[in-house]
Amino acid sequence: MKTKELKIPRIKDGTVIDHINAGNAVKVLHILGIPRASSSVVSVAMNVKSKMGKKDIVKVEDRELRPSEVDKIALIAPKATINIIRDYEVAKKYRVQLPEEVIGIVKCSNPTCISNSNEPVKSRFKIISKDPPRIICYYCEREPEDISERIM
Ligand code: CTP
Ligand code: ZN
Repeated sequence: MKTKELKIPRIKDGTVIDHINAGNAVKVLHILGIPRASSSVVSVAMNVKSKMGKKDIVKVEDRELRPSEVDKIALIAPKATINIIRDYEVAKKYRVQLPEEVIGIVKCSNPTCISNSNEPVKSRFKIISKDPPRIICYYCEREPEDISERIM
């Protein structure tokens, strides 16, 4: 048995977020509201060797992700795959996919942007590059320096 590859146990039911850019597992946990807003059993492996360098893995038991959570993960881990596990089997596997625009999930870094005013205007960003992810505000064209700091 290739024990070196058995980093963390397989799970029975839940979601495995695999191929996260090494070092970004903590950001993924933050997006998922772990531990503050979640009582799921979670295991994390960081800097695991993979075919293409190093990666992080997050396993969340008994939980499937919301589409908005998947979009947020795509913004910080564009190569991530989402594996839905049911009764130990990978029931579904897909790669995160950024839409053309993200609405209401990133806060513009420009304090005078209309999306930060009292007007009822939701934040809206155009995706200008998927990997590495780069976005600009639809309203003021400001590009956030560090997207992960701006995720709502
Ligand atoms: N996994 C798990 N529990 C299970 C089944 C799978 O934690 N019951 C994890 C595996 O450890 C792996 C991920 O889910 O990190 C995807 O599993 P699998 O598709 O079997 O692995 P690979 O074929 O290596 O995936 P990929 O081709 O996406 O790299
Ligand atoms: Zn703006």
